[in-house]
Amino acid sequence: MRSHYCGQLESSLVDQSVTLCGWVNKRRDLGGLIFIDMRDRSGLVQVVFDPDQQALFDTANKLRQEFCIRLVGTVRARPESQVNKNMATGAVEVMATELEIISRAEPLPIDFNQQVSEEQRLRFRYLDLRRPNMNHNLQFRAKVTSAVRRFLDDNGFLDIETPMLTRATPEGARDYLVPSRTHKGKFFALPQSPQLFKQLLMMSGFDRYYQIVKCFRDEDLRADRQPEFTQIDIETSFMTSDQVMAVTEKMVRQLFNDMLDVELGDFPRMTWHEAMRRFGSDKPDLRNPLELVDVADLLTDVEFKVFSGPANDPKGRVAALKVPGKAEAISRKNIDEYTAFVGIYGAKGLAWMKVNDLSAGRDGIQSPVLKFIPDDALNGILARTEAANGDIIFFGADKTTVVAEAMGALRLKVGQDFELVSDEWRPLWVVDFPMFEEHDGRLHAIHHPFTAPVGVSPEELKANPEAALSNAYDMVLNGCEVGGGSVRIHNNEMQQAAFEILGIGKEEAQEKFGFLLEALKYGTPPHAGLAFGLDRLVMLMVGASSIREVIAFPKTTTAACVLTDAPGLANPEALAELNVAVTVKDND
Ligand code: AMO
Ligand code: AMP
Repeated sequence: MRSHYCGQLESSLVDQSVTLCGWVNKRRDLGGLIFIDMRDRSGLVQVVFDPDQQALFDTANKLRQEFCIRLVGTVRARPESQVNKNMATGAVEVMATELEIISRAEPLPIDFNQQVSEEQRLRFRYLDLRRPNMNHNLQFRAKVTSAVRRFLDDNGFLDIETPMLTRATPEGARDYLVPSRTHKGKFFALPQSPQLFKQLLMMSGFDRYYQIVKCFRDEDLRADRQPEFTQIDIETSFMTSDQVMAVTEKMVRQLFNDMLDVELGDFPRMTWHEAMRRFGSDKPDLRNPLELVDVADLLTDVEFKVFSGPANDPKGRVAALKVPGKAEAISRKNIDEYTAFVGIYGAKGLAWMKVNDLSAGRDGIQSPVLKFIPDDALNGILARTEAANGDIIFFGADKTTVVAEAMGALRLKVGQDFELVSDEWRPLWVVDFPMFEEHDGRLHAIHHPFTAPVGVSPEELKANPEAALSNAYDMVLNGCEVGGGSVRIHNNEMQQAAFEILGIGKEEAQEKFGFLLEALKYGTPPHAGLAFGLDRLVMLMVGASSIREVIAFPKTTTAACVLTDAPGLANPEALAELNVAVTVKDND
């Protein structure tokens, strides 16, 4: 139906006749002429209707915003004075000769020139996606997936599909369940990731696998989490963790280079312990210059129990966060707000110290806890944090996990509030994670239960699981975990040991993962892999603040689709066939 896209028109096409299909973006009537900006996925071009062509002009008069039209016209150069430098096609315009209104549009239910709620945008997503920046985001995403496929194809990876109707894969979230009609009372789980299938494919000898694949996780949603999201999922055989990191890092570097003309350079590596110590996070945003400084050893003997308690507790921590030069800018009211903020993460308070005049000794320090801190401890803190006049220092004292979370979050918040975050790309690998972490009195796998430990036998792992490090690696970019992976356990004994430590008994392991344990018996190659969150990667690349901005039809924060009104009620016959009874009333 068309000869050109609107956005393609340029000076070399002057005097040519073109046929365009698209939408009326805007209409203006000026001095007896009608102008429209016509839009398709490639961009905009200005079209002019001349009143001398009466019939054509009458049709043009009927045009309204978002009418879908087809037109024929001649490209002409705009006079020098009317060239629009802000428009890609601003050097030309189209003099219309034919116009067909294909379909009319009622006045739009949302006005994109006004502030529109996200709920409204999602309800009318097909209109929202007409907007240039959403259109750009999805076109950009398509280019990323295409480049990823090209890279992985060129590097010998095979694209192999894995099932969507499957058994639970333990990635730490709840499963989405699908009742089976043919197996009464039984359920499939939608995959939280293709983890076990990709491992089985290595056992089958495919050597290098990838898949751009939907994953499903029923978890609390945030800006970078959706219940269904897309992974670039990768698995390899006979490759070390260094080799997996090298090839996936190369892919990301190439993507940034090709698509954004950004040179990321070699990614530094940081151990998990260092990341937690300096940034209170396993996904540190290195663009933010603030760092945590441990001061527990200086405070073991102080009488102030808030500090000495955690300082003497092997599972406790006391950390300082110095904000240079902000003693004046941060008021008592701000401090109260920050105290409430760290409370969200379980902190019971937020001690602080303003450094007014170092030369004045104690008198130059202003702090509600000053009276509790003797000179040597005070001097130790000031020296270790390299405090200078005008600085403010915050303190967190509690269990290590609480301090890391609370002070790590405070670091990010203060960084944002005072615009300390630099405008650059800061990738890194976080490595040497502990295998397990304790909460609710139990050990949990930090990655997943199939991750291999570094340098221990199954017996040694069982004897001291909390000391074991895993052979896992996360790729972090600007404070966002964009990918994670590991070397896998490839022997049955080690896998059983890992299950045992996680409190998964022999019977349960057999019931849930019997197929994996069995497969491990028949010549399993060493294997390792990684999965990127495609949505997160694209979000960062286009500079969006939520992955919903790079997903065509995302769910709301309550995991609903307001466009189709899903999830919905099921009809009673279908439920009966599935042997499913619904126990809530309609409006529960
Ligand atoms: P993991 O659980 O770390 O690892 O997931 C890999 C990457 O997927 C992205 N991601 C998400 N993105 C959007 N919404 C979500 N709810 C969500 N959850 C995770 C993140 C994350 O880094 N099977 C392992 C990978 C492996 O070991 O090979 C896995 O799924 O960017
Ligand atoms: P309190 O003795 O509870 O009045 O607290 C004295 C100061 O210590 C206040 O500034 C509190 O905000 C701070 N504080 C209390 N508990 C903690 C904690 N766990 N970590 C850091 N500061 C705290």
